[in-house]
Amino acid sequence: MLRQKRDYDAAMQRLRTVTKKDVAGKRVLVRVDFNVPLEKSGGVVQVRDDRRLRAALPTIKLLQEAGAKIILISHLGRPKGAIVPELSLEPIAQYLKKKLNLPVTFSTNYDEPKLDTIVLLENLRFYEGETTNDAGFAKKLAGLADVYVNEAFSNSHRNHASMVGVTKYLPSFAGVALTEESNMLASLTTEPKRPFVVVLGGAKISDKVGALTNLANIADLVLIGGAIANNFLSAEGFEIYRSFVEEASKKDAGDYVAVARRLIDEHKTEKVLKDNYIPLPKLLYPIDVVAAPNLDTTDADELKTIDLSHDMADKPEKTKLQYLDIGPKTKHLYSELLAGAGTIFWNGPMGVWENPLFSAGTQAIARAITTSRATTVLGGGDTIAAAHHFHAEHKFSYISAAGGAALKFLGGEVLPGLKPLIIPS
Ligand code: 3PG
Repeated sequence: MLRQKRDYDAAMQRLRTVTKKDVAGKRVLVRVDFNVPLEKSGGVVQVRDDRRLRAALPTIKLLQEAGAKIILISHLGRPKGAIVPELSLEPIAQYLKKKLNLPVTFSTNYDEPKLDTIVLLENLRFYEGETTNDAGFAKKLAGLADVYVNEAFSNSHRNHASMVGVTKYLPSFAGVALTEESNMLASLTTEPKRPFVVVLGGAKISDKVGALTNLANIADLVLIGGAIANNFLSAEGFEIYRSFVEEASKKDAGDYVAVARRLIDEHKTEKVLKDNYIPLPKLLYPIDVVAAPNLDTTDADELKTIDLSHDMADKPEKTKLQYLDIGPKTKHLYSELLAGAGTIFWNGPMGVWENPLFSAGTQAIARAITTSRATTVLGGGDTIAAAHHFHAEHKFSYISAAGGAALKFLGGEVLPGLKPLIIPS
């Protein structure tokens, strides 16, 4: 515990951010995260979301201005050491060239790539040594350049050769966007403008236990929605019928209903008594839900709104139901609380927003957050997609494209990829 606290404090310290002086005229290996969603349309591979590609632009510009030769390296998907043609980075090189106007060439040659001003190498994960953090593979990467820059915050929770191993052999620096992302997320935990309200939803609680535990200690309020709320409802003895609850995996050891019980117990005595807030426990879960027999239904008549405080008398038809969105009272309560927030962090939709019958909760939360006066931070791929769908994306103060890495960072872990970049105190 103590060690983790000390490590965490270290992570809050300054990172060695790359400057022109560090790279002038040198060969620079830049680890980017170009693991972006691709789709095939008319036989052509298209980039569905180029946020991670654009995030690398400030660092690339800085390196170009310093006259550096740039070698971009990234993974795409999980090919597990095999060459999987659908996971080639070649379409990304085309996108960088055609859409982002960068003078990029693509190469599969890891031994002696032709160093034009910018070269993008083929998918790192076509090599087994990448994910095993193999020293030989790390040395091979290091041999390509004079300097290393990590511009892949969203992959910094991975102890891989291109993230960690390579830093043993080259002077290593943090990229511009990585530094910004790490500072923004760190500021949530160290100096949030209060009240600090965290909204957590989505389906899988396993990815969020660390962030939930740590942020519950820091935040003034934690509003729970999505399928992760079912763990909290179960822990409080509410019937959830056929609703989704993530099973604990063997490797994870956790029984997530027990995790929810612990969190409720730890925070039940804390009250929010600010201004005109009514006293509430710090951790809130839905007081009503929208339910239906299945999440693909298109029949509005199948929907039931269940008020969890009154409606618990057993009716036989309820046993077929799944909880698929927060209900109107929860929507209203959460929206009121968000309106008074000073800082908001949101990760995870409130329900199955892809189906219009279950989108109202997520849409209302997106609106409440973006119409508040708070500093607003949005994280995670699904939540970004939902905000995009509801035309709210551009209204956030900051969007973090890092899902797992951001949650681990907010959970107080020192990410292995960031550790070598911290300036010793
Ligand atoms: C991500 O998309 O979260 C990162 O690129 C990491 O990808 P991974 O989960 O396949 O390691």
